[in-house]
Amino acid sequence: MNRTVEKGKTLLVDGPASVAVVSGRVEVFGSHVRHGQKIVIREAKRLPFFVAEKADFDVSLGENAGVEEVEGDTVPASWAESLNLLAEVKKKPAVAMIVGKADSGKTSYCTYLINRLVGAKHKIAVIDGDLGQSDIGPPCTIAYAFVSRRLAELYSLKAEQAFFVGATSPSEAPDKAVEGMTLMKKEILAKAPDFVLVNTDGWVEGEDAVNYKLRLAEVLEPDVVLCIQQQNELEPMLAALEKFVKTKVEWPSAVKPRGMEKRKHLRELNYAKYLIDAKVKAWPLSHLRIEEENLILNKLDEGKGTLVGLYDSQKKFLGIGVLSEFDNVRKTLKILTSVSEKPIVISFGKVKLDKNLREIPTSQREDVIGS
Ligand SMILES: Nc1ncnc2c1ncn2[C@@H]1O[C@H](COP(=O)(O)OP(=O)(O)OP(=O)(O)O)[C@@H](O)[C@H]1O
Ligand SMILES: [Mg+2]
Repeated sequence: MNRTVEKGKTLLVDGPASVAVVSGRVEVFGSHVRHGQKIVIREAKRLPFFVAEKADFDVSLGENAGVEEVEGDTVPASWAESLNLLAEVKKKPAVAMIVGKADSGKTSYCTYLINRLVGAKHKIAVIDGDLGQSDIGPPCTIAYAFVSRRLAELYSLKAEQAFFVGATSPSEAPDKAVEGMTLMKKEILAKAPDFVLVNTDGWVEGEDAVNYKLRLAEVLEPDVVLCIQQQNELEPMLAALEKFVKTKVEWPSAVKPRGMEKRKHLRELNYAKYLIDAKVKAWPLSHLRIEEENLILNKLDEGKGTLVGLYDSQKKFLGIGVLSEFDNVRKTLKILTSVSEKPIVISFGKVKLDKNLREIPTSQREDVIGS
């Protein structure tokens, strides 16, 4: 389908869809779209194509996809203004922590900041701390990547390293999530970036959430905390983060919210992506180091379907797997995984998947917030 859009408007495209710009000047989250470049919008995602100069599009829509034209730029002006705060930071790296509830536009805001900073040839690292809706590593991990080009989606980045937390929300494993964030930051600092952008999860309301974000801020030591607030949901957190520099930016009204079921479905698509062509591999327990030392063997018997993280001897993240069996006689672990290297360290998660890689709900996990 061909579509012409006038200067100053935005074409909002809801996936699954693909879009190519045939003529004119178009930007997605501050990234210029080359003519002929095909941009794929995944299911349950929306991308805004801002038309800086009258443009012709070639749009292909999948099932339940949609396209809508709106006036103006859906990227709030305050997103651009917040760049000045980052630029004012004199030390290197400047660390920014992005907070906001689920579906507040955190990932898109990070993408926008990257696109604006990359143009000035800065060395930029991004930590993705959103366990439930991870963009960079597999679900249930904290991952980081360095970025050297503009992008329409954070999802297109490949993780350089990841830390397996094993839960879809930090509310289930706050200590482990803080440990992961600390380790990722330490590794990144050794690589001397100019900017570190940290995306966080959507668990922002309630005392536990506020305490968790405070703990994160204490280990990340952000020069600025960038807060996407819709009403006043972040106020208790902002009060707790009193010693940090903070700024509020607008919540974009064009955000497309996704319900819990959609978010779970998106995660399941992501497990499948990281377990593509997975095979069951068997490793003797004696050759492995199980991170959860207190995991007693009879617990392993009940562990079928448990999501695991695999690392090499240097604690380099290799990928995820699913425990398919513990052979108590031979003392071997059988794990479904696409990882080809031999793992040395295995970390057991709290998530369990069925044979179709769908999350198995547990009573505990049903009330998990912010995943
Ligand atoms: N300024 C904007 N204009 C149009 N669409 C937007 C804008 N910001 C975000 N969106 C769209 O709204 C949806 C939700 O935004 P995004 O994924 O950035 O939010 P999030 O806070 O990271 O969500 P999550 O809690 O799932 O991680 C996405 O499909 C995104 O592309
Ligand atoms: Mg996100």
